[in-house]
Amino acid sequence: VIGYYNGQYVNPSEAVIAIEERGHEFGDGIYEVIRVYGGRPFLLDWHIERLLNSLEAIRIASPYDAAGYERLMQEVLDKSGEREASIYVQITRGSAVRNHLFPEQDTVPNVSIVVRPVAPKGEQTPGKLLMQPDERWANVYIKTLNLLPNIVAKQTAHDAGADEALLVRDGLMIESASSNLWFVRNGELITAPTDRYILPGITRRYVLELARDLGIPVREEKLPREQLSSVDAIFITGTLAEIFAIDTVLSHPSIPISTSLPDVALHPVTVTPDT
Ligand code: PDD
Repeated sequence: VIGYYNGQYVNPSEAVIAIEERGHEFGDGIYEVIRVYGGRPFLLDWHIERLLNSLEAIRIASPYDAAGYERLMQEVLDKSGEREASIYVQITRGSAVRNHLFPEQDTVPNVSIVVRPVAPKGEQTPGKLLMQPDERWANVYIKTLNLLPNIVAKQTAHDAGADEALLVRDGLMIESASSNLWFVRNGELITAPTDRYILPGITRRYVLELARDLGIPVREEKLPREQLSSVDAIFITGTLAEIFAIDTVLSHPSIPISTSLPDVALHPVTVTPDT
């Protein structure tokens, strides 16, 4: 494990951030998580594109351009020596006296990176989702540090014996706490469109590309939760979740729907990098 903070290599468990830091005090920043396979960051250009979009959305002037991020992440990865890893990169508005207003021009963003080894998943058995209300704000397309509703939803799922949350907003099935949600019905893939209410997942984008290449029809649509029993299979996608098959959806007291799907003939697939 290796940490990087504003140009210095640090131990990620060591204190390096000021108390009066905007990410620390307000969650005023954004992040990305990139998976490294065989020493190569997977879909790095798409992650950097989304990182730049997130910064722009919350009006943080980017300290680097796309090539600069690529160089920096490669440098930290090389320093770590890891080949199967995750890269966490976080950019905040900077360190300043606590004030809701954005600080003056001379405040510069703080850049943190952690490279951590990841154990390849291999064969997996299908998992469970716990259906819950989506209590996040209305701009979840921005990958901000404000993950309280996500972590509580994921913990609630875990406490109920599930692997992930299935978040429902206005009666529609949106995504999971840290992954995107997919259904298979009548040979078609169904996933929510990239509006402000989902995180436009990089793995989602990759799966859309695979589906296009394989000629599998895709419908970008949010399914009403009542239609859960009409689907043939479910899976979730994410940088760390990869492609994870789901065979059971549990109900939550606040959303009284109980749908236990029969075993699905969908085998977990591991996304492997281009060679
Ligand atoms: N989570 N939806 C949400 C809410 C997410 O937080 C994530 C990623 C995804 C999947 O996006 P991607 O395929 O780009 O990883 C969907 C990251 C991995 C995390 O917070 O750790």
